[in-house]
Amino acid sequence: MRPYPVLLLTLTATVLAATGCQRGTAAAAAPAATAAQAAAADPLVAEGEYLVRIAGCNDCHTPGYSDRGGEVPRSEWLVGSPLGQLGPWGTTYPTNLRLSINALQEDEWLAYTANLHTRPLMPDFAVRQMREHDRRAIYRFVRSLGPAGDPSPKALPPGQQPPPPYLQLVLPDMAAAAQDQNPVQ
Ligand code: HEC
Repeated sequence: MRPYPVLLLTLTATVLAATGCQRGTAAAAAPAATAAQAAAADPLVAEGEYLVRIAGCNDCHTPGYSDRGGEVPRSEWLVGSPLGQLGPWGTTYPTNLRLSINALQEDEWLAYTANLHTRPLMPDFAVRQMREHDRRAIYRFVRSLGPAGDPSPKALPPGQQPPPPYLQLVLPDMAAAAQDQNPVQ
């Protein structure tokens, strides 16, 4: 899919309400001791945690991560988000990686992510460019957290209005049409 130039990222007022959307928080109850033990046993687990932090996976896949300045316990990470991402591709929802990764064997994850193709706003190109070592580390870390939460809402096709909360990407032609309707005096 070709890259979309971002003219304007419109936050609906309801997005603010979405900051209160901590879906999965209660459900994400992997014991911290398990993650700590896994990290001690396998150095790739700590590497994976670092990569998830700096590659921004939590920004979309962890509810409330940005709002809380990244101060979210690991047990709540990557459980997916009900905040829709609306654009010409329809509406997508950051998936629950705790469920999808825990459903795959390591070699399946490596094959899948080496050729990952999704809709926006997922930066699938970044995952495809990651070294196998790094994708393996992410897998080991997320596996160490265990499964948690519920599946994210299903994506909606283009042209279908999602219920709030959602983020909307407004592109140049859409913005021009809006400008024609409401010309600046
Ligand atoms: C800008 C928001 C955003 C960021 C950052 C992001 N994702 Fe996603 N991700 C999404 C969305 C939205 C989808 C669903 C795409 C679709 O429905 O086609 C998705 C889907 C996926 C999928 C495919 C669905 C699945 O569960 O198997 C994987 C794998 C994935 N993301 C992994 C990651 C990883 C790893 C990172 C960090 C390197 C990351 N994502 C960062 C938004 C994001």
